[in-house]
Amino acid sequence: MSVPDACFNACLFLHAPASTGQSLAAEVWITPMINARTPSLLLLIAAIAITPRLHAEETPGADAAQQSVSYHTQIKPIFQAHCQGCHQPAKPLGDYIMTDFQSLLKGGESESAAIVAGDAKASYLLDQIMPVDGVAAMPKEKAPLSPEQIGLVKSWIEQGAIDDTPASAIAVYDAAHPPVYSRPPVTTAIDYSPDGKLLAAAGHHEVLIHHADGSGIVARLIGVSDRIESVKFSPDGTKLAVTGGAPARMGEVQVWDVATKKLLTSVQVTYDTVYGASWSPDGTKIAFGCADNTLRVIEAATGKEVLFQGSHGDWVLDTTFSIDGAHVVSVGRDQTAKLIEFETQRFVDNITSITPGALKGGLAAVETHPARNEILIGGADGVPRTYRM
Ligand code: HEC
Repeated sequence: MSVPDACFNACLFLHAPASTGQSLAAEVWITPMINARTPSLLLLIAAIAITPRLHAEETPGADAAQQSVSYHTQIKPIFQAHCQGCHQPAKPLGDYIMTDFQSLLKGGESESAAIVAGDAKASYLLDQIMPVDGVAAMPKEKAPLSPEQIGLVKSWIEQGAIDDTPASAIAVYDAAHPPVYSRPPVTTAIDYSPDGKLLAAAGHHEVLIHHADGSGIVARLIGVSDRIESVKFSPDGTKLAVTGGAPARMGEVQVWDVATKKLLTSVQVTYDTVYGASWSPDGTKIAFGCADNTLRVIEAATGKEVLFQGSHGDWVLDTTFSIDGAHVVSVGRDQTAKLIEFETQRFVDNITSITPGALKGGLAAVETHPARNEILIGGADGVPRTYRM
């Protein structure tokens, strides 16, 4: 379930101050908004002022060694996007946690120091990311980091591996350190379990599973994403798909085992939060929408991408499968609902184009009828509509 566009932006604002760990996210969202209202002359002056710096940063590989590398703004985003899915408290593969700075240095099961400040050669992490014949040990079974990224990590280690994270952004939540709320968070997503006994609700940095009768909280599922955009129980109710991420940094799809409260899969995708999770009727696949205008589908068990579709002209905010699983429907800020054939990844048609001009404003939510191939859509114009696929 999602919220309309206008309210959506307001929610992003409200959501931000709810906790200290969110300050960076708030900065990222607020900046473009301020710019939008700044007189253009000021923008021009600002552009001129930053131009020399941009030039200097255009050659990251070559100059990286001379420049001072920031852990907070340059290194952490690389780790967030490529490593933390498998190296976080909820999923510490190789016994190695990269979300906490001390553990990041210390290393894991090998008992070799992952990072030795000032000594790149002695840092096991660098061995792990350095490709040999195009293949690197880490990120495991994925494309190696780019030479520029590896260069930055190396320079940062050589420069003393300093943690320059500002105090306001240090808060890292995990099961042992759950978020503390000073006021109720904005709820961006909710979903009932198929048997009606549980209710999952997005919080800050976590999903709260409640007894549906309101008698208490069953579980707090805390991953690496600070903003949760959607929550969806699998058709058999055993798993929960969660989409979200860190705004303007990374998107994430999490799959949790509802009974054991364990994180089964964490997949990093794109450089912004991701939206609108939906399960295929057989519970093997998860569709979601992205701010790079793509609709994607992954295998729930492995995280492998099995569909990539770029027919939208704006953010894709929600998705749903047809009742036989053969088609996926996605809706987005471009005011369209698109019908995609899963098997061929082919764009079939705009479901909403049948009535030109019928829609005003972006679409934020879509749901399939439980028994018929009909969809219910909702968006910024506040009028829910049903369409036949
Ligand atoms: C898909 C999951 C996955 C991703 C993504 C991943 N790792 Fe790993 N990592 C593992 C597993 C599993 C191990 C345990 C050793 C093994 O199986 O190879 C491991 C082990 C390690 C170790 C050794 C820890 C120790 O002391 O034994 C380091 C260092 C490491 N990873 C760094 C990274 C870095 C850096 C990235 C990102 C660039 C990354 N990993 C991304 C799964 C992953």
